[in-house]
Amino acid sequence: MQNFTFWNPTKLIFGKDQLIELKNEIPKYGNKVLVVYGGGSIKRNGLYDKVIDLLDEMHAEVYELPGVEPNPRLSTVHKGVEICKTNQVDFLLAVGGGSVIDCTKLIAAGAKYDGDAWDLVTKKAFAHEALPFGTVLTLAATGSEMNSGSVITNWETNEKYGWGSPAVFPKFSILDPVNTFTVPRDQTVYGIVDMMSHVFEHYFHPEGNTILQDRMCESLLITVMETAPKLLEDLENYEHRATILYNGTMALNGMLSMGYRGDWATHNIEHAVSAVYDIPHGGGLAILFPNWMKHNLQVNVERFKQLAIRVFGVDPQAKSDEEIALEGIDKLREFWNSIGAPARLADYDIDDSKLDVMADKAMANGEFGNFKKLNHDDVLAIYKASL
Ligand code: NZQ
Ligand code: ZN
Repeated sequence: MQNFTFWNPTKLIFGKDQLIELKNEIPKYGNKVLVVYGGGSIKRNGLYDKVIDLLDEMHAEVYELPGVEPNPRLSTVHKGVEICKTNQVDFLLAVGGGSVIDCTKLIAAGAKYDGDAWDLVTKKAFAHEALPFGTVLTLAATGSEMNSGSVITNWETNEKYGWGSPAVFPKFSILDPVNTFTVPRDQTVYGIVDMMSHVFEHYFHPEGNTILQDRMCESLLITVMETAPKLLEDLENYEHRATILYNGTMALNGMLSMGYRGDWATHNIEHAVSAVYDIPHGGGLAILFPNWMKHNLQVNVERFKQLAIRVFGVDPQAKSDEEIALEGIDKLREFWNSIGAPARLADYDIDDSKLDVMADKAMANGEFGNFKKLNHDDVLAIYKASL
């Protein structure tokens, strides 16, 4: 285990009817509030009206940025930065899923930066400060509600990169499972795949002696796999939505990754796919992760074996370590198939015509992956196995 400092300042407000807490939280930061949201789900399910009513009760001066895309785009960030700078906005409120929150993070930082916000994503400049913002989460998936990362797509150049800064932890996040009731089945599945993938990204690391961390990761995976089928049978079940929502946050708020750095190669490989084809992030991960695992099995067979036995219930009797490990990966594939996640790039009509383009994008910052460094050939091999 490596030395570590854990710091996560986001106030997590979890449970039924907690939206009312906006009235306690927002006035701490000012009166001019920019509400950021997506393509209309919050208008259809009534959340928008509830938020606006509360802001009215606070006598807030409200500005709005609707239309944040799934895979949020730089062009939308620019609109938000403009609104903030023109109107001296005090506080941003993201109401939506990971895309709305990620977009809000870059707007918040961009509003305090003189150049183009894209500089902060490409690391030409660092986001030392940002406007304060809070979130009302509507989709369990990314963990963006309690972390300092954000992923933005520049659709003009087909680039999608993650960036982060301690300045963009949300001040608070309100997680009411009821606000996730209307998430459609397919998006619910993508979220489940995404949170499981965050655990896998942690789990495959080069450190020794991460006994507690391993078991925390395993416990999260087991909980999600137990709950997901029940939730998918009953999308408005409060308890199942609550379990999945809590798991999504815990999977990527730093709690699982103290003392080591996870791999994160598969996320990089997936971001290159969605940069070119604009597919849902969780859908891409469902296709790619088992193939990343098979490609890297020999790096540490023991770790894959541990996962297979402890999480996927593989019976080790009379099997080689490699057989056990492979059976675990097959069981992951089976589980994701069973909940209706995509399994092949062909499911999104992606053929082999742009594999090189995507591999080049994934390699933009050179070799990557902390469990195993991947080069261009590795990335191509994983894409080919995923066709
Ligand atoms: O836009 P609206 O109309 O709101 O619809 C959204 C969107 O179409 C819909 N939705 C959200 N909440 C809903 C709902 N529909 C009905 N009822 C609700 N309550 O779901 C669709 C997808 O939303 P989105 O925010 O795009 O999904 P997600 O939360 O999975 O976010 C994906 C983005 O996050 C990035 C991904 O790359 C992708 O760009 N990531 C961010 C991370 C981070 N910041 O830490 C880490 C992740 O690994 C990930 O890369
Ligand atoms: Zn993810």
